[in-house]
Amino acid sequence: MIGKDLLGLKGLSKETISEILAEGSKMRDLLDQGEKDFNTLKGKNITTLFYENSTRTMTSFSNAGKFLGATVSNLAVGSSSVKKGESLIDTGETLDALNTDLIVIRHSTSGAPKFLADHVKAKVVNAGDGMHEHPTQALLDMLTMKRYFGKIEGLTVAIVGDVKHSRVARSNVYGLTTMGAKVRLFSPSTLQATDIDKTGNVTVHTDLREAIEGVDVVMGLRIQLERQQQGLFPSLSEYFKYYGVKESDLKYIAKNGIIMHPGPVNRDVELSSGVIDGANSHILDQVSNGLSVRMAILKLMLGGR
Ligand code: CP
Repeated sequence: MIGKDLLGLKGLSKETISEILAEGSKMRDLLDQGEKDFNTLKGKNITTLFYENSTRTMTSFSNAGKFLGATVSNLAVGSSSVKKGESLIDTGETLDALNTDLIVIRHSTSGAPKFLADHVKAKVVNAGDGMHEHPTQALLDMLTMKRYFGKIEGLTVAIVGDVKHSRVARSNVYGLTTMGAKVRLFSPSTLQATDIDKTGNVTVHTDLREAIEGVDVVMGLRIQLERQQQGLFPSLSEYFKYYGVKESDLKYIAKNGIIMHPGPVNRDVELSSGVIDGANSHILDQVSNGLSVRMAILKLMLGGR
């Protein structure tokens, strides 16, 4: 059971994650058969409230709600009363008064979704908050692994790049370790996270080859220039040279290993174009699973049939 809100994967049980992934996998099968017209959430209203830019998350939540038969309002924050100084709580209470059943929120401040959830009647889903969590991204990542490998337990996943600023990395560490996978974190020393518990199934690496040797999954992370103070690495070209994953690195990963990236990707910075577009790449499969897993979450949270 997800509960009223979905704010993060820290503390979410293995049973709940498994339930979401099982429902997400069913949704993916139906979507692959061309089904995208369900009555499951008829009569429900979903509002997306994105204070930060998004292509994948906002579009997939919006499509997920519409495919399930809900009405979906995408609040354009840039042209809303937020621009006149309206507070987050006042915006949330306004959406409550407009009969919104569920709010999907992305915000640059860690904790903003919880703050909103504590003040509104509507259910709240965190679509990414600051450097904190991006739970639905990690769920779609795990669905991608589960559908390809048939399991998550026992996999080794190398998360490579800007770990320090990454909410995707944090949610994946919580979710993957709950599901019994091992996680290796690789980044320049200036982009390592100090708040992630590195005991047990999480190890930290500063050598790329050591980090990806024999792994089932290499997950690249976007360099988040918007969250960085200047000077954490010399230049993007030097970052790629020393820390980027290139075709020549793929020989070190497991024979049936795959490449993932949450997107948007900076080509030839985190991953080479050859790796992004190569046979091992599951980046677009992740996007499709994002739609499936968000349909599953909306259905489970809004009690649809
Ligand atoms: N992965 C992800 O959150 O992508 P968007 O920023 O496009 O939503």
